[in-house]
Amino acid sequence: MDKIKVHDKYFVKMIPHEEILGIVDEVAEQLNRDYKGGNNAPVLLCTLNGALPFCGELMTKLEFDPIISSIKVSSYSGMKSAGALSSITGPTISVVGRDVIIVEDIVDTGITLKQMRKLLELMGATSVKCCTLLFKPEKFQAEEKKSGSMTAPEYVGKVIPNRFILGYGLDYDELGRCYKDIYVLDE
Ligand code: IMP
Ligand code: MG
Repeated sequence: MDKIKVHDKYFVKMIPHEEILGIVDEVAEQLNRDYKGGNNAPVLLCTLNGALPFCGELMTKLEFDPIISSIKVSSYSGMKSAGALSSITGPTISVVGRDVIIVEDIVDTGITLKQMRKLLELMGATSVKCCTLLFKPEKFQAEEKKSGSMTAPEYVGKVIPNRFILGYGLDYDELGRCYKDIYVLDE
C-alpha cells in the first residue's frame, strides 16, 4: 500500500520496510562496536509503545547480551509534542550501576529524551545513551538554541525532515503503529 488513511488524514509511503531493516543493521553494528565485550550487562530500555518494533528487531542483531526493560512516557498528543512529559511508568528494573541504552522510535524536540536522561541519572545509571531509529533535527536545534544543554542522540538510524510520520511503531493518535513501512502525512 502506497497511500493509507488513518483517522481523518492521508499518508504516503516514505521509508519501505527493507530500508528500515538496513537501518536497524547499521545501528546494531554501532552498538556492537561500543558495547560488545563489556563485563557489566547494559540495560536496553525500550520506550513504549513507539519503539517496540525497532527494539524487537534491534535486540536480535546484538552481539552482547543486554538486560531488556521498558519505560513508558508520554508527551505527544495528536500531531504536536506537548512539551513536558505527562506521565512516566517504569523502568521495570533497577538501573543502579548500569549503562543504559534508551531505544527511541524518533527524537523530535528532544524534550522527552532530555527528561528521560535526567530521570535515569537520578535513578543511579552509570551512563545513559540513546539510540533512535529516526531523528528530526529541526525542532531539536530550535530547542537547543532556546534552552542550551541538549544532548543529541548518540546513535541515529536516519535523519528526516520535519514532517509528521507514522508506521513501524509510530502512531497518529494511537493508530497506525502496525504498518511495516513508515508513512508521511500527505500535504
Ligand atoms: P520529542 O520529545 O519532541 O523529542 O518527542 C518524542 C516523541 O514524540 C517520540 O518518541 C514519538 O513518540 C513522538 N513523535 C515525534 N515525532 C513524531 C511523528 O512524526 N509521528 C509520530 N510520533 C512522533
Ligand atoms: Mg515515542
